[in-house]
Amino acid sequence: MARFHRTVDTKDIAVLRFLDGMRGRFEWVPRERVLRKLPWSTMKVTRSLGDLDRMALIQARNRDEPVLRITGRGLDTLALWELKNHGAIDTVGDLVGKGKEAIVLNATAPDGSWVAVKLHRYYQLEFEDIRSSLAYAAIEWRRQQLDLRHCEIDVPRAKAQVEMTALERCWDAGVSVPRPRGLNRHVVAAEMVTAGEGLPAPPLHRVSLTDPKSTRQVILDDYREAVTRTGIVHGDLSEFNILVHEEGYPVYIDWPQAVPVEYMQASLLLDRDIDIITAYFHREYGLDPEDALVRRARAELEAFIAERQESQG
Ligand SMILES: Nc1ncnc2c1ncn2[C@@H]1O[C@H](COP(=O)(O)OP(=O)(O)OP(=O)(O)O)[C@@H](O)[C@H]1O
Ligand SMILES: [Mg+2]
Repeated sequence: MARFHRTVDTKDIAVLRFLDGMRGRFEWVPRERVLRKLPWSTMKVTRSLGDLDRMALIQARNRDEPVLRITGRGLDTLALWELKNHGAIDTVGDLVGKGKEAIVLNATAPDGSWVAVKLHRYYQLEFEDIRSSLAYAAIEWRRQQLDLRHCEIDVPRAKAQVEMTALERCWDAGVSVPRPRGLNRHVVAAEMVTAGEGLPAPPLHRVSLTDPKSTRQVILDDYREAVTRTGIVHGDLSEFNILVHEEGYPVYIDWPQAVPVEYMQASLLLDRDIDIITAYFHREYGLDPEDALVRRARAELEAFIAERQESQG
């Protein structure tokens, strides 16, 4: 059987964009409407629809009339296309991270540098954990409530928006995060912290530290700077979400659970972040998780949060 070889073109993208735009109004969009609205002949659009269906970027059904909808893969394609169109990425490369909540691909930027492209996913168990913080951050930072009727689509978009906002604010404040490069739908592109050849730099738990006490102090200081300069709490800090740059310093990734310090439970999240890091250094290197340095960092940050929450009323 002949293999199907074809990549998407601007016409296909226009179809995908149209179907994405119609999602709020139709679960399944009448095919007739697509043919009528797009500025090409019926024959051309019909061919595009057939190809998109074969590429699994759309689904077609026959209800009372022929209807269509965009698939998750179609949304991935659309978001990557737009990021390329806006110059955030050039060519997309390999999968470098895969979990239930996101997949990460490497890509190049037009200037040749490496980019990490994170496609957020909906994962119900995770969502139950982060529901209240994400709902809060989504209202604060995108001025829009979570759309729970379409949570498979809206939750990954909200996570991407929250992650992008946190990265931008941290980057602008001089906190050690990957430089953000672009956001589209559920996809965030940021500079890749690379160990060369587009491979991600190792996370903290894979690195054997020569001076763990000073590294822990750097992390606590960075964390304090992030909170006090940006008013943001990471909310998922761990030895997995700190990459160790080739030059030895830590870079903080994975921010979709971030919250503004005004969020009611911000100090609980902050305490948990500090607990997880200090427990790691205790387990691996025998450092006292509640020594004077840790207590001081904790007390300072809790006071900062309390003050911000009070001044908010
Ligand atoms: N900016 C980046 N630079 C280098 N590598 C990155 C970057 N962002 C993500 N990665 C790689 O992708 C992996 C997953 O990214 P991240 O921690 O942001 O997502 P996640 O939701 O935790 O995904 P998972 O569930 O797979 O851990 C990281 O552990 C890291 O290897
Ligand atoms: Mg992670």
